[in-house]
Amino acid sequence: VNRIAVSAISADTVAVPSTSSLPYRQSALPIEQRIADLIGRMTPEEKFDQLHQCSAGDTNPNNLASRADELRPTYGSFILGGAHSILETRNALQRRAVNETRLGIPALFGADVIHGFRVITPIPLAQACCWDPALVQRGCAMTAEVTRAQGIDWTFAPMVDHCVDARWGRIAETFGESPHAAGVYAAASVHGFQGEDLRRSGSIAACLKHYVAYGASEGGRDYSYTEVSPQTLWEMHLPSFEAGVKAGARSLMSAFNDLSGVPTSANHYTLTEILRRRWNFSGLVVSDWNAALQLIHQGFAADEAEGAEKMINAGVDLDMADGLYRKHLATLLAAGRVSLARVDEAVGRVLRLKFELGLFEHPLTEISALAGAVPTVPQLDFAEEFAARSIVLLKNKGALPLAAGVKRVALIGPLARNGGALLGSWAQQGRADETPSIHDELLARLPVGVTLTTVAGCSVDGKSPDDFASALSAANAAELVILCLGEEVGMSGENASRSTLRLAGRQEELALAVAASGKPVVLVLISGRPIELQAVEGKMAAVVAAWQGGSRAGAAITDILLGRRNPSGRLSVTWPRATGQIPIHHNMRARARLGQEGCYQDIPTTPLYEFGHGLSYTQFVYSPIRLDRSTVAPGGTLTAEVTVTNTGARDGLETVFWFIRDPAASITRPLRDLKHFEQGSIPAGASHDFRFVIEPQRDLAFPDREGRMILEAGEIQLYTGSQMERFNVTL
Ligand code: NOJ
Repeated sequence: VNRIAVSAISADTVAVPSTSSLPYRQSALPIEQRIADLIGRMTPEEKFDQLHQCSAGDTNPNNLASRADELRPTYGSFILGGAHSILETRNALQRRAVNETRLGIPALFGADVIHGFRVITPIPLAQACCWDPALVQRGCAMTAEVTRAQGIDWTFAPMVDHCVDARWGRIAETFGESPHAAGVYAAASVHGFQGEDLRRSGSIAACLKHYVAYGASEGGRDYSYTEVSPQTLWEMHLPSFEAGVKAGARSLMSAFNDLSGVPTSANHYTLTEILRRRWNFSGLVVSDWNAALQLIHQGFAADEAEGAEKMINAGVDLDMADGLYRKHLATLLAAGRVSLARVDEAVGRVLRLKFELGLFEHPLTEISALAGAVPTVPQLDFAEEFAARSIVLLKNKGALPLAAGVKRVALIGPLARNGGALLGSWAQQGRADETPSIHDELLARLPVGVTLTTVAGCSVDGKSPDDFASALSAANAAELVILCLGEEVGMSGENASRSTLRLAGRQEELALAVAASGKPVVLVLISGRPIELQAVEGKMAAVVAAWQGGSRAGAAITDILLGRRNPSGRLSVTWPRATGQIPIHHNMRARARLGQEGCYQDIPTTPLYEFGHGLSYTQFVYSPIRLDRSTVAPGGTLTAEVTVTNTGARDGLETVFWFIRDPAASITRPLRDLKHFEQGSIPAGASHDFRFVIEPQRDLAFPDREGRMILEAGEIQLYTGSQMERFNVTL
C-alpha cells in the first residue's frame, strides 16, 4: 500500500509566465480551437507527460507496482484512492499543475467509483435485477455529486462487460447476461454520472469499460485469454459499449484480455476501426492498469517500447500506470514508429476532457458541505430502496414473509453479523462499521415479543473453527431459521476467480445440518455471483438472492423477510444448477437434436432459475399477447400488448420481459433474445397493460461477422411470461 504524503509531490518548474491571455485560456472559444492552440505550444515532453496517468495513493491490492515516488504536476492524470485526504491530495497536486508548470495545464483526477462513494448501493449485477434504469441513473447521479465534491472528476465506470461465466469474479460488476439490458443500463449510468453538463458540480465523466470481451475470460480466470468469434463479438460484447457511446460517455477503458490473438489494449480493429470510425467516438481512451507492459507477458510485444508502440498505434490515448508512453515515445517518434499526428490526437483527447470538465476555469475543488462525504438520511434511504429492489426471491414454499405467529427465530450463518460483507467489491469509502448487519436490522425490526438467537455456525471460508453444535441447538429451539450464507467481499470482484460456484468452506454442511432440524429454513444468500445450490436447495423452505446490496442492505433484506416490502427483483443472469453447466444463458443457440438428446446424463439441462426469474408475495397472470398487425415492414412498427393482472392480495411491482426468436435465419439466432422490458406497479386485484412497439431495424435486425445489420423476411416469435405470438417481417 502506497499512501502519498502531499509534501512528496515534486514540482517541475518554478518561474511560470502568465498564460491568461492565450487563446487556450479563453472559455468563450470553441474547445477544438483551444485544443489546437494549446497543442501548438507544447514541447514533446509536455505531450508525453499528458499521456501518462499514475496513482496518487492507491490502496487497491490489484493495482500492482503503484509508485509513490514520482508524482509530477505535468502528468495528464492521477488516480486517487485510499480512505483519506483525497481532496487535499487533489488540490495540492492541482495547485502545482496550474501554478508551477509552464502551460498550467490542470490534471485530471480519476477513481474507481463503481457503486457508491461512501454510501454504497448494490453491486451492478444486483442493480440490474431491479430492471429500473431510472433507479440506476439516480444512483449514479447521487454518487457523482459526492464524488465530484471530493475532487474526483472522472469515474472508471460503468463496467458494461458481457459475461456468462460466474466463475469470473467480475460478473459482480456487470449488468448481467443480456446485451440489450446492459446497453440500457450503460446509457442510464452515463446519464447519471455525467448529468447535463460536465462542468457542473454534480457531474463526473463516465468511462465505459473494459473494452472489449474481457468477460469471456477462459474458464473464468481473470486477465486470461478470450476466444471470441467475430459473430459473438458483435452480438454479445459490443452492443453495450455502442449504447454507452451513443449515450455520450466521454471516455472508455481498454481491457486486459487477449482477444483471439490480439490483446484488446493493442487492438486496432476494436479501438480504431469500430470505436472511432464506425461509432465516431470522440472521447478519451485510457488503458487499463499496466496494459502496455502486460503486452509483453501476453506475448504480443518483445519489449516495453514495442508495448507502448502497439498500444498507442492501436488507439489507446492515455497510458494507465506503467509509464511506458512517457518512457518510450520520444524514441518511438524519432524512429518513425509512432507519428506525431497520433501523439497529438491522443493529447488532444486528454485535453478535450479537461476542457469539457471545465478544469481550466475551475481547477481546484472547493471544500463544500459534501466534502466529508458524511452519509445523509436521503442517501441512506435511497440506498435502502435500491437494495430492496435488487433482491430476488428465488424460492418460497410459504415460509415468507415471516408469519405473524412466529415467536422464536434463529439467525444462523457466518454472514448474519457481517455488515461489511454486504458492501461487495469496489466499495470505495464504504465502511463496514457504518453498515448494519442483517442481525442488527432484524433485531431492530422484529415485532416485540419475538426472540432472536444468532449463531455463526461456521466461517465463510472454513478457515476458522466451526460451531455446528450451537447452530443446531439454536435451530432446534426456534420455529424458523434464517440462514445467511455466501461470500465475503474478496471472493468476487477483480482477481477473484473461483473454480466452482459452490459455497465455500463448510457452509453447505451447515445448511444441511440446520435443515435436518426439521425447522423451515430461509436461505439468504450474500454474494457477487450466482451460487451453486444443488446440494441444498431442495431442503430450503425459501431462498433469497440478496447479492451485495450496499450500505443499507441489512434493512432491505429484513423488510423483505418480514413482509414489510414485497420483493420485485428479477434475475439479470441465469442461475445454473451446477458449475459444470457454464455457460448457460437465455440467449444460447439451439441444439441440433431435440428432446433429451444432447442433455446431461447426470443433471437436468435446464438452469435452477431462469434469467428473469423472481417471485413476489403476490401473483401475476398474463393475458395472451395482442398484436396490432400480423406483418411489419422496414420503417413500420408493430405493437404488441399484454395485460398483466395481479391476482393476489398484495400490491406488487411486475417486470414484463419481451423476448424474440427468429426461427430460421441466414445466421442462426438465439433461442430467446431480450429486446425490451418494462415495469409497472399493479395494485392487488388490478390489471396493467404493457406494450412493446417493435421497430424492425432496431429490434429484429442482427449483425453479421463484420457488424453489418441484417434484417430478413420471415417469421418472428415473440415471448412474454409463458405467452407466445408470431408475426412476419416483409421486405
Ligand atoms: C484495474 C481494473 O481492471 C479496472 O477496472 C480499474 O478501473 C483499474 N484497475 C484502476 O483501478
